[in-house]
Parts: sequence; structure tokens; C-alpha cells
Amino acid sequence: MIAKLLPVFAALAVFSNSQNTGNAVIDALSTVDNLKTLKSVLASEPFIELTKGAPFNGEFTVFAPSDDAFDRAGDLGKDNDLIKAILTYHVLPATVPSSAITEKPAFVRTVSDNAKYVNLPNKSAQMVGAYKECDTVRIIDGTYVEDQSYPKVIKADIKVGKGVVHIIDRLLTLPQPISTVLKANARYSTLLSLLNQTKSVDALDGLTGATLLAPSNAAFLPITTAKDKPSVEDLTYVLYGHVINGISLLTTRGLPNGTYPTLNKNKPLNVKVSSRKLVVGDANVIQPNILTKNGLIHRIDKVISVAK
Ligand SMILES: *[C@@H]1O[C@H](CO)[C@@H](O)[C@H](O)[C@H]1NC(C)=O
Ligand SMILES: *[C@@H]1O[C@H](CO)[C@@H](O)[C@H](O)[C@H]1NC(C)=O
Ligand SMILES: *[C@@H]1O[C@H](CO)[C@@H](O)[C@H](O)[C@H]1NC(C)=O
Repeated sequence: MIAKLLPVFAALAVFSNSQNTGNAVIDALSTVDNLKTLKSVLASEPFIELTKGAPFNGEFTVFAPSDDAFDRAGDLGKDNDLIKAILTYHVLPATVPSSAITEKPAFVRTVSDNAKYVNLPNKSAQMVGAYKECDTVRIIDGTYVEDQSYPKVIKADIKVGKGVVHIIDRLLTLPQPISTVLKANARYSTLLSLLNQTKSVDALDGLTGATLLAPSNAAFLPITTAKDKPSVEDLTYVLYGHVINGISLLTTRGLPNGTYPTLNKNKPLNVKVSSRKLVVGDANVIQPNILTKNGLIHRIDKVISVAK
């Protein structure tokens, strides 16, 4: 009985120490060290509205950036829509304790759904991933840069009402357009330049729900160093064969075997999943689950043979 009551008292204690502004989220944040900046941002107009109603009247998870995380992020700028999109990207409409996060990355919906910043099928909110690495929980957000680690949880499982708060060491970054991610990673400069040559960049960035299978520069060498340069038409066909479109997030988690539509009509791509690897066409995925504004990038080890 006492053991059963303890969590309830713990939750009440969080609320009773607070300054009691009448706003449960702000009051709860007042009682947690290291979240002063987050509290002051959320307590100010126009962001206070984000703390009212759903999901905070039910289950929720907040990845709460520490004061240091805000210091490191610097000025958030003046674009309130963008700041709201970023703040809501830290909130899940479900309670996810750290014990539910495993070594296998899992992806869940946030409540960040402004169409200016997310372009997934069915007007879905943007996704965030989480996985455990040596007992540390890391968050897969839009910060993907080669050799840079993802933000991590520095204090987990602070119970607040029906929800939970995990303090993280960096502000999460909204997943960016595909071309922005490719630009930020030199490994994809050939792919980007070929997409540009075939005038496919805007089309790709504008797709609603895309999975780009991205060969690195080295993987393109057989094409870029070939004596006979492919025509723009042939090149477009090859590149379009690397884009699965119109489907919600094809993360490697729980993906079934199957064929998926590409930008080349009637030329679907075979996807084979085993416990150890993911094979698309005749290429292997070697760096999966890079989040973008409109879906995902998986790095692959070769250019997929796309026969006309
Ligand atoms: C993209 O292609 C245009 C010509 O169509 C060229 O002027 C521009 O420099 C290219 N940009 C990149 C990043 O390759
Ligand atoms: C969009 O939602 C409808 C209805 O819930 C569902 O049938 C369809 O598969 C969804 N589309 C995508 C791309 O997820
Ligand atoms: C996919 O098919 C392969 C055989 O080609 C099989 O070994 C594997 O278990 C299948 N994976 C799933 C997720 O069904």
C-alpha cells in the first residue's frame, strides 16, 4: 500500500513546492533544477499557450533542454512560428519512460505539426527517435551531421502529473529539407550536385513523405569517372529510382519486406529486411534513419542498379 502511494506523493511534492501560478506545466518546471530558461521561455507570450490543454491534460513526455542547452543554442531569433515548432518538437503526446527505450532506435510522433516545418503524409506531426547507447538515452532529431553525436538525456524520468520529463543536453533541431542535410555532409556532395544537374532538388525537397536512399561520393565513382557520361535523362532515371515516395516514415524499425513505389512510375524498389541488415534493390543500408523535413535518408553502399 505504502509502496503504491509513493509515486502519488512524489507527484504531489512536485506541485506543492511550486510557486503555484495556476499553470501546471510552469509550476512543475519551477520545481526542477536546471530548467529555468525553459520555464521562462514557456511562461512568456506567445509561448504560454503551448502549455495549456493537450497533451498536458493527459499523458505526455517532454525532452526538456537544460539551462546549459539553451545557453549553447544562443539566440532563438524572432520567428515565433519557428520557435513554437521547435518547442513542440520536444513534446510527445504519450508517456515514454526511459525504461521503454532500447538499443534499437524507435521513432515516435511529436506534437510539432506546423506544415511550414514538416511535410509528412496525412499532415502527420514530425517524428523523433530514441535509443539507448551504454545506458545513455540519445534522441535522434534533425541534427544529423557526420561524426556528431545526437543530443542525450542527462536526467531521466522526472514524473509530472500523468507525464514524464527527461532533461537533455542540447536543444533538439527540427528535421531539415533533404537538400540542407545533404549540403551539411560532404559525403553527399556528388549526390547533391547530380540532383542539381538534373534539376531535381526542389522536387525532392517538396515531396510529401520521401525516403531517399543516398549513395556517398565514393559509391558514385563508377558513374562520375566513367568515360561515357550518362545523359541527363538517364541520370534522372537513376536518381528517381533512389526515392521512395508517398509513404510515411520508412524507418528501419519494424519495416516489412516488400516493394515500395519510387519516383519512376511502375519501377518499385525491393526492400528486404533481416535482423542484421536492410537491402534495397542491390544496395545495403549502412547508415539508416537520418530524419528530414519530409521523411528520411538512408545511406547506402552503392548506386542501386535501376534498369529501364
Ligand atoms: C546547380 O546547377 C546550376 C546550373 O543549373 C549551377 O549554376 C549551380 O552552380 C549548381 N549548384 C550546385 C550547388 O551544384
Ligand atoms: C493516411 O491515412 C489513411 C486513413 O487513416 C490511411 O489509410 C493511409 O494509409 C494513410 N496514408 C499514409 C501515407 O500513411
Ligand atoms: C524478409 O525476407 C527474408 C528472405 O528473403 C527473410 O529471411 C526475412 O525474415 C524477411 N523479413 C521480414 C521482416 O519478414
